[in-house]
Amino acid sequence: MDSQLAKGPSLTIAVIGSGYVGLIAAVCFAEIGHSVICVDSDREKVEALQAGEVPIYEDQLPELLTRHRGRGLVFSTDLLAAARKAQVIFIAVGTPQSPTGEADLSYVEACVREIASELHEYKVVVEKSTVPVLTNQWISRTLRFNGAKDENFDVISNPEFLREGTAIEDFLYPDRIVVGADTEPARALLRQVYQPLIDGSYYFRPDHLPGPRDLRAGVCYLETSAKSAELIKHASNAFLAMKISFINAVSNICELVGTDVQEVAIGMGSDSRIGSRFLNAGIGYGGSCFPKDVRAFYKIAESIGYDFDLLRAVETINENQRLSFMKKLRSALWTLKGKHIGVLGLAFKGGTDDIRESPAIGVVKSLLAEGCRVSAYDPAAMEKAHALLPADESLRYASDEFDAARDAHALLVVTEWPQFASLDLDRLHQAMRYPVILDGRNLYDPKQMAAAGFHYYSMGRPLAEPSLRVHAGAE
Ligand code: UDX
Repeated sequence: MDSQLAKGPSLTIAVIGSGYVGLIAAVCFAEIGHSVICVDSDREKVEALQAGEVPIYEDQLPELLTRHRGRGLVFSTDLLAAARKAQVIFIAVGTPQSPTGEADLSYVEACVREIASELHEYKVVVEKSTVPVLTNQWISRTLRFNGAKDENFDVISNPEFLREGTAIEDFLYPDRIVVGADTEPARALLRQVYQPLIDGSYYFRPDHLPGPRDLRAGVCYLETSAKSAELIKHASNAFLAMKISFINAVSNICELVGTDVQEVAIGMGSDSRIGSRFLNAGIGYGGSCFPKDVRAFYKIAESIGYDFDLLRAVETINENQRLSFMKKLRSALWTLKGKHIGVLGLAFKGGTDDIRESPAIGVVKSLLAEGCRVSAYDPAAMEKAHALLPADESLRYASDEFDAARDAHALLVVTEWPQFASLDLDRLHQAMRYPVILDGRNLYDPKQMAAAGFHYYSMGRPLAEPSLRVHAGAE
């Protein structure tokens, strides 16, 4: 069934930017029944999208693009025409980290300057990109300075909480939708945008995408001030990053006293006030959001006179996790120069091909800098990794997990791909030169690894070593 059959009043929506947030928002708005124009200034990208290419690795995205492309969803480079036609304009352009750590808002400003000339009747301009608090005011001021009349627009904040790999599901089955608007017309228009999710009608449609829970009674829809919504986004990401750094700090204590961080995390997470999610110790968080948002939140706080030094500690703990992982490798192999290391994982987390700020890439770079030979494997991110770190005599991209482990002095697990957790351990053992595994994501049970004959190092858990079994394939 195509989107025309969707229930509810359809709006014309422009989504500016076809990156992660923009593209997902655009297909999902089409999926809930709106008419969407997704705009990008990159002509090649737009042509590829028009031709049916899927630029990012994301579950259910190809299906939704096939369902809506050319019908409820069109791609264009014409920003002004899209702004003219749309009742609601979502800004989803990049807000990368500037060299000094603040969010670089120049792309947001450039697109706001352009659309100002097209606001001849009432429209709502929505910040969808992650932006610091008070950006809303700057957008309004810039629209005014560029000729838009106050009565013709409102600027609101509607942050996105999607995770890569489950972005479509996160959009259509959100924990909450946050809309920060300071006027009633803007609130009313945004309610119309999300109506099929607010009243649950989307989930009654026979062709709705199945999701993790029953939302037929409607989603949690929060209306706040624009400033609060801006803060909710930065505060949420910074809090989740803090939760990861907190458990990583605890995992260091666990190593020092010889206990298991997973037991501690289960005990902590069973308290419903704490919750068990985002308490997995490991080599640290990466990706396009947490590192950038923690920094940007710290910077905006500083610029308005508050020293949020807790966030500095969050960053330091995160960086130290990778360093201590390398230290662990040194303690496992004695010297590193000339050693052959297998690496499982390149993406910043499982389920994505994204390598931005990936701790796994950081580990590969450190290994190469230490003079190791590296064989790396990732189920999705090898093409992107290859573009950043081309193969040479020190770095080889393997065809599968066992190929990466072949003849290795140690195998490092650095991305939490579910398939890495269920490898044939005997086959792995046979493939390796030394039976040494360093698990930066705690995917395996230490006892099982020792029983399979491995010297198994993980994060915040005691070293597990084989008692009787003697490795057959030594040097
Ligand atoms: C994150 C937020 O979750 C999402 O709400 C926001 O909108 C965008 O940023 P994402 O970057 O896709 O999403 O990844 P996420 O699943 O949150 O993981 C971030 C990083 O933390 C990954 O590197 C992951 O490996 C790491 N992580 C996560 C841990 O180390 N331990 C955990 O317990 C959870």
